[in-house]
Amino acid sequence: MRPIRIAPSILAWDLGDLRGAVEIAEQGGADQVHLDVIDGHFAPNITFGPGTVKALRRISDLTFDTHLMIDDPSAYAQKFLDAGSDILTVHSEVLDAKRFDELHSLVRSKGKALGLALKPATPLPAWAAERLDRLGCIMVMTVNPGFSGQTMDLSVMPKLAGISRLLDEKGVSADVEVDGGVEPENVHEVVSRGGNVLVAGAGVYAAKDPVATIRRLRDKAVHAREAAGQGGLAS
Ligand code: DX5
Ligand code: ZN
Repeated sequence: MRPIRIAPSILAWDLGDLRGAVEIAEQGGADQVHLDVIDGHFAPNITFGPGTVKALRRISDLTFDTHLMIDDPSAYAQKFLDAGSDILTVHSEVLDAKRFDELHSLVRSKGKALGLALKPATPLPAWAAERLDRLGCIMVMTVNPGFSGQTMDLSVMPKLAGISRLLDEKGVSADVEVDGGVEPENVHEVVSRGGNVLVAGAGVYAAKDPVATIRRLRDKAVHAREAAGQGGLAS
């Protein structure tokens, strides 16, 4: 059974106080910090780069899950690994089998994990389905990349359930990460379909008590997991 992991997305906090965002994640007992890197090309926003990741690495030992929403991940992967990323998640829309294999070799040579992200409308490509055993995680996005604070797109749920089933059938232990609009009220939707890494931006940082909300997300996820365990995966 994949462990539940809570990954606050610091993009949703005051960008002038990223240290504070990481401290909140630590105080709430988060498993990892989700770092959204956007280049203004792949998605319509510009966030931060390896320098920021490096600065945050100095203040935290939490797992850094760096979500590269950029057109050319191959050009920057090394820099984000050197900066202290533990998981590099790259988008399937800008990759093919060859580029993926090159990135995989690089990331594994550093002892780090590679994740593969899918926009809401993107199916799992055939080349990726043949390489599931090389993935640290598959990230199913439930909003279009760019901004925190959007509403979860529930039409993605059948894809999420299908990917979780596929991994189970193949005996692949990769995490199933869900990114976009996750909040305590909809955690059951994603956990009942096999999601185990819950990214939450506004769901944590726009809450009145972000630290307590991280714990609440985990409690909700554990309860949803128990309920799903009795009824099997939802579709
Ligand atoms: C969207 C990012 C998400 C986002 C999550 O481009 O990949 O990680 O910051 O924020 P919420 O949870 O507010 O949708
Ligand atoms: Zn993200």
